[in-house]
Amino acid sequence: MIEAVNLHKVFGSFQAVRDISLSIGAGEVVALLGPNGAGKTTTVRMLGAILKPSSGRATVAGFDIVTHAREVRHVVGLLTEFPGLYMRMRPLEYLAFFGALQGMNKVDCEKRSVALLKQFGLWEAREKRLDSYSKGMKQKVALIRALIHDPPVLYLDEPTTAMDPHSARTVRDAIADLRAARRTILLTTHNLTEAEVLADRIAIVRGGTIVAEGTIPQLTQQLMGTPVWELRLATSSSRAVPLIQDLAPIEEVGEDWLRFRNEDARHINPQIAARLAEHDVPLVSLAELPRSLEDVYLSIVSAQHVDRGTWSQSNGSAEALTPAEATIDEAESEVEEVRG
Ligand SMILES: Nc1ncnc2c1ncn2[C@@H]1O[C@H](COP(=O)(O)OP(=O)(O)OP(=O)(O)O)[C@@H](O)[C@H]1O
Ligand SMILES: [Mg+2]
Repeated sequence: MIEAVNLHKVFGSFQAVRDISLSIGAGEVVALLGPNGAGKTTTVRMLGAILKPSSGRATVAGFDIVTHAREVRHVVGLLTEFPGLYMRMRPLEYLAFFGALQGMNKVDCEKRSVALLKQFGLWEAREKRLDSYSKGMKQKVALIRALIHDPPVLYLDEPTTAMDPHSARTVRDAIADLRAARRTILLTTHNLTEAEVLADRIAIVRGGTIVAEGTIPQLTQQLMGTPVWELRLATSSSRAVPLIQDLAPIEEVGEDWLRFRNEDARHINPQIAARLAEHDVPLVSLAELPRSLEDVYLSIVSAQHVDRGTWSQSNGSAEALTPAEATIDEAESEVEEVRG
C-alpha cells in the first residue's frame, strides 16, 4: 500500500531525511519511533504529498506522491502534528467542509461526523466554536477530520500527544478497530506502549534515516540477543546447574535461581522440566525475562543520541508551509511544494 524508495529531504543545506525506504502492506500498522528532530514528521508529510521529496520516490495505493499528489491526498487520512483548524467554525461545519473536499455527499458526511463526534466524546461540545476547544479536543477534531472519508490509508502523527488518559485510550481503541478493518496505518508516537500495543512493525528513525526495522520480537532479538530465561527452584540452584548446562548456556546463578540463554524455548524448556523432575529437583517457575520495547529503543537511540539542530520559522519558512497554509493548501489540494 505504501512503497517508499530512497526518500531524501533537504531543507536548505540541512538534510532532514536521508535514504528512507519503507514498504507497508494493506492492513499493516507500522510505527515510526525516534527522538525529536529525527525526521518522522517530514517523512510522513512527504508520504502524504504535503511536502515534495528532494529525491527518491514513493507510491501510496499505487499513486505517485509527486505526479499524483491529489490522489494520494484523497486515499490518505492525515493527522498532522500541528493541525490547522478553521477556528471560527463549529465541528460539524468544519467536518462538512472537509468531507465535501474529499467528495463525500452531505448526508453521509453528516452521519459520519455525528458518529465520530460521539465516539470521541465531543458531541456535547458540538455547538462550541473550535477556537474555544482545548488542545486535546482540537486534536480529536483533527483526528476525526482524518477519518471522515474512511480512507484506506491513515497517517497519524502523534495522535494521542495532547490527550488525557481516557481520551488516549479511546483513540487507541479506534486505531485498533481500524487495524481490524484492515486499514493501513503509519503511526508516529513517543509512547512506546502505544507502539507496542498497536503496531505490527516498528521502524526506528534517527538522524533522518531508519536505523532499525522489524517486529518487536525481531528487533529485540537483533539488539538484545537470544532471550534470557529464569528458573526458580525450591532448593539450591547447584542441584540444577549440572542438569541444564549441556542444554542451554547458563548466564547467571543465584542462591535458588539461575538464568540461561534460550534460543528455542519450545524445544529446550520441556527437556529442562523433564530432567529436573527426573532428579526430584523442585521447580517453582520458569519464565522468560521480559525485555521491553523501551529497552530496545533506548539501546538504539540514547547511546549515540545526535542532536541534529533545530529549525526555526525564520530559516525554514521558505520551504515549509505554516500549519494554516498547509491546511488551506491541503483543502485546495494544491500544496505549494508538490505543485512545483
Ligand atoms: N520546513 C522545514 N524547514 C527546515 N527544517 C525543517 C523543516 N521541517 C523540519 N525541519 C527539520 O528537519 C528535522 C526533522 O524534523 P521532523 O519534524 O521531521 O522531526 P520529528 O522526527 O517529527 O521530530 P518530533 O519527534 O519532535 O516530532 C528537524 O531538525 C527539523 O528542524
Ligand atoms: Mg514530528
